[in-house]
Amino acid sequence: MEKLDQRIQLVASSEFSKTVDEWRRGQSDLPSRSEAIRRLVDLGLRYEREHPMHMITAVIRPHKYDDLREALLQLGVEGITVTQVKGFGRQRGQTEFYRGAEYTTTEVPKLRLEIAVSSAIMNQVIDTIQSVASTGKVGDGKLFVHTLDQVVRIRTGEKDELAIG
Ligand SMILES: Nc1ncnc2c1ncn2[C@@H]1O[C@H](COP(=O)(O)OP(=O)(O)OP(=O)(O)O)[C@@H](O)[C@H]1O
Ligand SMILES: [Mg+2]
Repeated sequence: MEKLDQRIQLVASSEFSKTVDEWRRGQSDLPSRSEAIRRLVDLGLRYEREHPMHMITAVIRPHKYDDLREALLQLGVEGITVTQVKGFGRQRGQTEFYRGAEYTTTEVPKLRLEIAVSSAIMNQVIDTIQSVASTGKVGDGKLFVHTLDQVVRIRTGEKDELAIG
């Protein structure tokens, strides 16, 4: 058993405490709040070790690309694959691009970005895409996060995090 001799002060919101309490009540041994937070930190660290890389696929409005590229470069993103795509969401393209008949579905031009990131910057990348690509109107797009098993830089054979950046 590890010696618990470090006192760590934690100031948190009531929302955070509520979330922790809900989680710990679901544990069969009902750990204390402190024990629950220690376990959750361990789980988070293990998750990061086991999932060090992610692929983010984002579908955005084309006119948002330049600003987003700039912001992502600032964060340390080293490469982006961009594809012109068409698609629709839950309004089926209607409110964005009206074409007469009430129930027709219209595919609207978008850009699809594929960005491989290490877990160190993943959350910042997600937050940046969300805030920079948003106009607040329907059709702003979506982003999808997938775990990424392997990356290889073809020129050198470098792998994984060495190959991402
Ligand atoms: N479930 C989905 N699966 C795959 N692609 C999707 C999905 N939802 C949206 N997309 C893609 O994202 C683009 C923009 O979607 P959109 O922003 O309209 O989503 P939404 O769910 O309708 O949200 P909002 O209500 O804000 O419009 C679509 O044109 C499509 O390419
Ligand atoms: Mg929509």
